[in-house]
Order: sequence, then C-alpha cells, then structure tokens
Amino acid sequence: MPALRSDQWYAGSDRNAYLHRAWMRRGVPDSAFEGRPQIAIANTASDLTPCNRHLDEVAASVANGIWEAGGVPLNLPVVSLGETQVRPTAMLWRNMAAMAIEEMIRANPVDGVVLLGGCDKTIPALLMGAASVDLPAVVVPGGPMLTGTFRGVPLGCGTDVWRLSEEVRAGTLSPEGFLASESSMIRSRGHCNTMGTASTMGLLAEVLGMTLPGTAGLPAPDSRLLARSHGTGKLIVEMVAEQRRPSQVLTEASFRNAIVALAALGGSTNAVVHLLAIAGRVGVPITLDDVDRLGSGVPLLVDLQPAGRFLMEDFHRAGGLPAVLNQVADLLDPAAPTVTGRPIGDYLAGHEISDPEVIRSREAPLMPEAGIAVLRGSLAPAGAIIKPAAASPHLLRHRGRAVVFDSVEDLHARLDDPDLDVDADSVLVLRGCGPKGYPGMPEVANLPLPEKLLRQGVRDMVRICDGRMSGTAYGTVVLHVAPEAAAGGPLGRVRTGDPIVLDVEARRLDVDIPADELAARPLAEAMATAFARPARGWERLYVDTVLGADTGADLGFLVGGSGDRVARESH
Ligand code: FES
Repeated sequence: MPALRSDQWYAGSDRNAYLHRAWMRRGVPDSAFEGRPQIAIANTASDLTPCNRHLDEVAASVANGIWEAGGVPLNLPVVSLGETQVRPTAMLWRNMAAMAIEEMIRANPVDGVVLLGGCDKTIPALLMGAASVDLPAVVVPGGPMLTGTFRGVPLGCGTDVWRLSEEVRAGTLSPEGFLASESSMIRSRGHCNTMGTASTMGLLAEVLGMTLPGTAGLPAPDSRLLARSHGTGKLIVEMVAEQRRPSQVLTEASFRNAIVALAALGGSTNAVVHLLAIAGRVGVPITLDDVDRLGSGVPLLVDLQPAGRFLMEDFHRAGGLPAVLNQVADLLDPAAPTVTGRPIGDYLAGHEISDPEVIRSREAPLMPEAGIAVLRGSLAPAGAIIKPAAASPHLLRHRGRAVVFDSVEDLHARLDDPDLDVDADSVLVLRGCGPKGYPGMPEVANLPLPEKLLRQGVRDMVRICDGRMSGTAYGTVVLHVAPEAAAGGPLGRVRTGDPIVLDVEARRLDVDIPADELAARPLAEAMATAFARPARGWERLYVDTVLGADTGADLGFLVGGSGDRVARESH
C-alpha cells in the first residue's frame, strides 16, 4: 500500500493528528487509523430524492465490502437532486451538486470514494465532482424500479405520464382514469424504469469504465445489486492500493465507447450534455460533432420506452447492458480502461440476448442507424440536437411556418387559445429556455401540442427549443439550440411566420430569411423581458458563469480539475 492521502490527517503524534483521530473515534477500531484506506461513500440518498431513497441500504453493502478488504467506510451524504421535486429544474443544481461533492471529497481525509447515484442528475454530478478531484472513484448506480401496471398495461414512468395526460387533453381518457393510474406508476424503489436519463447515465457510467462491470441496470430491488455493492466496496480498496484514478479510466476511448453505447441503447438526449460536461472535467476533447459522427451509424438495438415498447426490468431480463455491448463490440474500443484495471474488452464476450424482442441482434436492429443527430444552420450556429429514433419519420425533413413563444409562461398562456394561428405543418418555437435563459435549461423542449390540433388527431409536430427534453419524452423535437436565445443566439430573433427548414439527413436547421435581415433584427423584447435575472446566490453565480449546452453547460470556472491536494493545512 503506498502512502495514504489520509495520513496527512491521521499519521504522527502531534496535536493535529491527535485532533483528527480523536474526533473520529466513535465506534471504529483503533486499527482504523493504522494505515487503512479511508473510503468515503458519497451517498445521494434522500427522502426528497425518492429514486435514491434505498441507497442507504446500498451504502451498507458497500461498507461491508470496504471493511472486508481492510478499508474504513465513511458515509458522506452529498447534495441530492430529486428530478420530480426540485424546482425550477434539477439541472439548475447539477453543477452546484458537482461543486459541493468535489470540495467535500477534497476537503476530507479520504483516499478513495464510492459514488452512489440514481435519479437523473445525481450520477453526472458525482462523476463531474469526482473527476475534478481525481481520487480513486467508482460508481454504484442505484438501479431502475420494477414495472408497474395499470389496468393490465405496463406503465413507463415519465413516458406514460405524458401519454396519459395528452389522452386526457384529447378527450380519450377521463380525468378520473388518469388519477387512478397515479398509484400504479411507481411500483418499487429505484429510478425511472424507461430508457430515460437515469437509466442512460447509470449504464453509461459502466461503459465509461466507472462501475464494477455487470452492475448497471440491475433493478434496484434485485438482491444482486447488494452483492455487487459489496464487491464494489472491496474493489475501491484495491483501487486505492493501485492508485487507479478517474483520469486513468475516463479516457477519450471511454467517451467514444459511451457515445456508441448511447446510440445502441437509444438513450436520453440529456446524456449528451452530461458526457460533454464530464469530459470537460478530465480534459478529454470530445465535442458535439463526435456525438453525431460516432453515434449516427450505430444501429438501435434496444426496444425500450420512450422510443420503443419495453422497460428496464425487461431490459435486464433480456441480457442487459452486457448483451448490448456484445452486439456492438466491433464498434467499441476494447482497450478502454475500467476501474478493475482490466480493459473493457475483457468484459464484452459471452453475453447472450435472452429476449430478442427487447434487445435486438445486430442482424435485426430496431433501426439500422440511430444515435443523436447534430444540426447546424442559421438557427443554430453552435449546434442543436435531435433524436431521430424518437421523432416521426415524415417530419425529419420539413418546412413550416414558425409559431414563436417567448417564454414558458407565454406558451402556457397562448398554446390552447382557439384563435392561435397554427396548423399541423407549423413549427413550434420555444425560446428563453437555455442554461442562462430560464435559468437551468428546463425540460420543456417537448412542448405540448395545441389542443385544437390534438383534437384533430395530430400527435407530433416539429418543435424547436434551446431547452432540454425529458429523457422519457418523445417527438420531433430539436433541442439544446446553441447559442441559446439568452446568450444572443439567432433563436431570439426569429418571428412568428418565418419559414423554418429542418433537414435531419443534411444536418441542417435554418430560418429561411436573408442572413443580414436576421442579424439586423433586435432580440425579441418580450423574450428578453422574461429572462430571469437573479440578484444573488447560486442562481446569480450560475447565470453569470454557465457555458452553453454545446459544451456541457458546466460553469466556466469548474471545467477541468484541481486534483486531490488540500491547499492549506489545518491549524
Ligand atoms: Fe428520478 Fe426519473 S424521477 S429517475
């Protein structure tokens, strides 16, 4: 075992070492301070993050593994974000959580850290923070919930909430029926059971090499999750001994693999922002264009909601992530490292598909080419994204008249106005919803359709927004438009009636008016008035320093890392 970082606190016989040891002696054996690795369990369990409530039990299994391997486990509650509860949007707090996690790992006497996350922003925040400290770190994804059913039909949380609420608006489901479905939606512990952001980021944490292989995707109530958690506890002690750090695992090859896997899985568009932000913390030069270039030729193999039919419990039963990676093994870099010290290639072979309805073979994909397309053009000079697998094929090439909304409030006020001049060919534009604009880049890009069109049977339209879309949503939605309107992007100059041209195959998003005319227009006044201008606190810091979605929406001064060195000694 090399010299431990925690020795800076505990080793020796001076007053400082006395203080540090004495305060920690509350039931731990004397040997805890005799050269044993101190392992923080960064735990996002919280009653207000219901998807992560079970992580205390996961932490107990991790702790047992740490003890068994000779380390000392230390529970470290960290900032937790419950996607459904936190307002205005959990994304506003992702960077805050990452910053707090980073500083608390660095500030404390720890030699390694196990990261327990689940709900959407928690794994990204944990990875960002841990990457910037660069102490040995490993993730345990908390896992998805089991499938709930309503009137015999499986319910995908998220996706089916949108579907059922649209049915109420269209008059095909009664309000009472809608409410009756509520108690069936969340059947067990765990995060959302669709291929939403939580599932995607848990799985991508494993593809990035940051979990004990075979852990991600295990349903939260599955006893094997606890066994894997125990194994992860043993692993982190080994990682400390070998000084295996995130900077050695999160390589360019790992991110390239994650982009391929994101496409094959049909994962959440939010993963693009998170991957870019994590890459920025370790200085890996992955860009938005890499997401398109590496992901677009990859076949879609997983038939999960929101793009498809099944749910995460089915996914696990069908062979899970190992079965998917096995199918696309030739597209992955087998040399990409993992936390075990072995390359990911060592884990790819021998995993069969046990239900080809849920996980398709390479020969019979759901779509021959999936991935996330990156669009550029006069409306999105720095890029915008669309998930073709979740879009309507007939709308992937479309020209339509813009119907512009200046804010979420404007949208709510006018969308269902019977006099709104809109038809099925119109392009709905919602702006002022990027990282700075709202702020926090809320998941509003899949804006609802006007009620009068729903009643005519319209179920999808082209929608364009500088915000994000829930990982569980679907539709022909162009999102993450950059630069955002609040940063002066051309989206802020578009007017109702302008012709918008979307051509996904050509990777173009344009407003068909002369460039000089567009540039000469002032930013829409109603939109600028609606921007949040927080006076103080985190929101102020966020709005002043957040970067665009095209680079991960991190704060400018948090990009990169500071390592594990504590700047000053205690006194
Ligand atoms: Fe937590 Fe969906 S609300 S993962």
